[in-house]
Amino acid sequence: MISTQIKMNQNFKTYVESIVPYEPGKPIEEVERELGVRNVAKLASNENPLGPSPKAVRAMKAAIKKVNFYPDGSCLALKKRLATYYDLSDKNFIIGNGSNEIIEFLARGFLKEGDKVISSMTSFLVYPLITQVVGAVYEAIPMKDFRYDLQGVLRQIDDRTKLIFISNPNNPTGTYVRAKNVARFLKEVPEHVIVCFDEAYVDFVEAKDFPNLLDEIHGNRSNLILLRTFSKSYGLAGLRIGYGIATPELVAYLQKIRQPFNVNHLAQVAAEAALTDGAFLNKTKKTVSEGKLFLCRKLTEMNLDFASSEANFVLVNVVRDSKKVSRMLMKLGLIVRPMTAYGLDQYIRITIGTQGELARLVRALKQVLKQGD
Ligand SMILES: Cc1ncc(COP(=O)(O)O)c(C=O)c1O
Repeated sequence: MISTQIKMNQNFKTYVESIVPYEPGKPIEEVERELGVRNVAKLASNENPLGPSPKAVRAMKAAIKKVNFYPDGSCLALKKRLATYYDLSDKNFIIGNGSNEIIEFLARGFLKEGDKVISSMTSFLVYPLITQVVGAVYEAIPMKDFRYDLQGVLRQIDDRTKLIFISNPNNPTGTYVRAKNVARFLKEVPEHVIVCFDEAYVDFVEAKDFPNLLDEIHGNRSNLILLRTFSKSYGLAGLRIGYGIATPELVAYLQKIRQPFNVNHLAQVAAEAALTDGAFLNKTKKTVSEGKLFLCRKLTEMNLDFASSEANFVLVNVVRDSKKVSRMLMKLGLIVRPMTAYGLDQYIRITIGTQGELARLVRALKQVLKQGD
């Protein structure tokens, strides 16, 4: 008889072994195959419902014949375009295989076993995951009203603290921390602690009191890094390309960590072109803004509580088992994200899709909640 007991390799690290893998939104094809449904709408991963930037698609088509060559490892053309876009130097940018890769650079660059990372509860799950990979300790501060409690974060800083992650706006709540609170926080945070403001959803923000941290970069704040991505507002999630903005010194340090060719050629040319696609960006922003207004109005009519969002998704309390609700929605061809992994067993997160997708979602949600009663 073959033993089913698999012996653990003695070199496996217990802190890696105990990692709970990140569970991404289910792909459309998988749901169609498993459940036999068609015309599935994916509103689970905060992607762009309008597709990729057309300018990016054209640039990729023209560049495809060059993929026999390695890409430009330094991503210089893209960094120069970003420098013009932000009125900074190309030395202020580090490009990653998704902004997720830069989160990993930060962990590998600044953490060793036993060091401490501070962030918030109910925030992006990649922060604890990457922290755990390097054997550091992750401390999550409770939210206040679904918002980051920056004063609470400050109180927990000690000698072991090396990194702070702040998702602004925050995934999965969509809430944000205001400029005046951030200014106070930055004044008090010790200089040796690296503060990462993850602004993956910044292009969707409409709030007037959202902080403009680019001013801090212009002012050479040495312990700050901003993360941005082409995955959301430019519709390039499948290419994996994002970037960090920081002082030339911090960027140069992180550059030492990356693989020589971490960002592929098509992603680089697509991102470069997308940055000049203002028409697409504006259309995306309008779609998200109007879609969010529509969805929130319908949720209010349905007496469902939701968090006020500055991002391209809304966190909704369905007052029922969110896994069950998500499963039932899936059978109706709509993929949303149950929030159980975040400890919110009765919440789902809905990405803002097209008007048609959202109308379908509202109809399906009404049907599912009625069935569940
Ligand atoms: C807060 C936050 N940061 C970063 C990312 C990752 O973005 P990228 O696709 O650039 O790796 C996401 C993606 O969902 C996110 O929600």
